[in-house]
Amino acid sequence: METKIFTADTVKDAAALLKAGELVAFPTETVYGLGADATNESAVRKVYAAKGRPSDNPLIVTVADVATVERFATITPAARKLMDRFWPGSLTIILPIKPGALSPVVTGGLQTAAFRNPANALTRELIAESGNPIVGPSANLSGKPSPTTAAHVMHDMKGRIAGILDDGPAKVGVESTIIDMSTDTPTILRPGAVDEEMLEPVVGTVASDKHKVGAGETPKAPGMKYKHYAPDAQVVIVDHEVDFPAAIAWATASGHDFGVLATDPVLKGLDDTLTTYSLGKDLQAATANLFAGLRYFDLHPTVKVVLAEGFVAEGLGAAYMNRLEKSAGGEHFSPKAAQ
Ligand code: TXA
Ligand code: MG
Repeated sequence: METKIFTADTVKDAAALLKAGELVAFPTETVYGLGADATNESAVRKVYAAKGRPSDNPLIVTVADVATVERFATITPAARKLMDRFWPGSLTIILPIKPGALSPVVTGGLQTAAFRNPANALTRELIAESGNPIVGPSANLSGKPSPTTAAHVMHDMKGRIAGILDDGPAKVGVESTIIDMSTDTPTILRPGAVDEEMLEPVVGTVASDKHKVGAGETPKAPGMKYKHYAPDAQVVIVDHEVDFPAAIAWATASGHDFGVLATDPVLKGLDDTLTTYSLGKDLQAATANLFAGLRYFDLHPTVKVVLAEGFVAEGLGAAYMNRLEKSAGGEHFSPKAAQ
């Protein structure tokens, strides 16, 4: 299958493919998604196949307005407040669904579904033009970092999907915050750009699902149990800028090729013969560039270790560190242990 690129001028052609039951990747402000008509079961099945995604991992339903959500789910007053305040934007809301309103292929058989209204004009046009909501998992192969450019999507999905709607690099860079509004206390299942401090003034106390899932347990967001964001090299988190020289000495002594993934303030102090990838100037830029950086080192197969800059896990830093921790499998550089 040829994977065609679409742009602002050809949104209608991309929508025609969705209507015909084909897969089209779409831009959002967070990461690129893999679209299929959410009301077409056989189209939705193709999404799992293209990604290599386990079938018990439910898909987000991507909409361009609140009225579409009402076709499928009951919107509680608190959920409506969130939609009024944060949509379109980087907040995915889990709601109880109307019986039989969505295929179990979309929901993984759950009685709830995740709804998202992304802040991207081309995608909103694509959904409106196609006439139905679209499922929207991230458009990466299962286990790989989410794509933040059309080129990333092409790398993973070439020949597997009919098209990609290209709208340049994603601005936020990590996936949306997921909040479960189907329970008594609103609960954050995945941290993103919309953080606890922004949510609490709107819906009161918000809980965070930090529970680590053991074997045989079902996590609240099924996708969180799988290995994620994993580049080919071992990622090691360096929590403090001052520890980079020691971390580099340790990596050099290991004899392996290594790379450094850090912001400009860290990189400017380092030897310029090192293999580096700039995360930009600050936390916001680092969040937007993190997945591109992890993918960059996959293009350098000799690099076996990536020393990656850590941030304090607060606000947007919580979203950044959540992804980085997963890509590192929890490995942090310890200056003491390296001595
Ligand atoms: O920013 C985003 O949310 C991106 C863009 C493309 O919109 N999409 C995205 O989708 O990250 P995905 O499928 O990669 O991640 C969605 C997560 C998965 O961990 C899935 O298990 C969880 O949402 N999820 C979906 N439906 C759920 C439900 N009813 N209850 C709990 N978790 C759910
Ligand atoms: Mg994903």
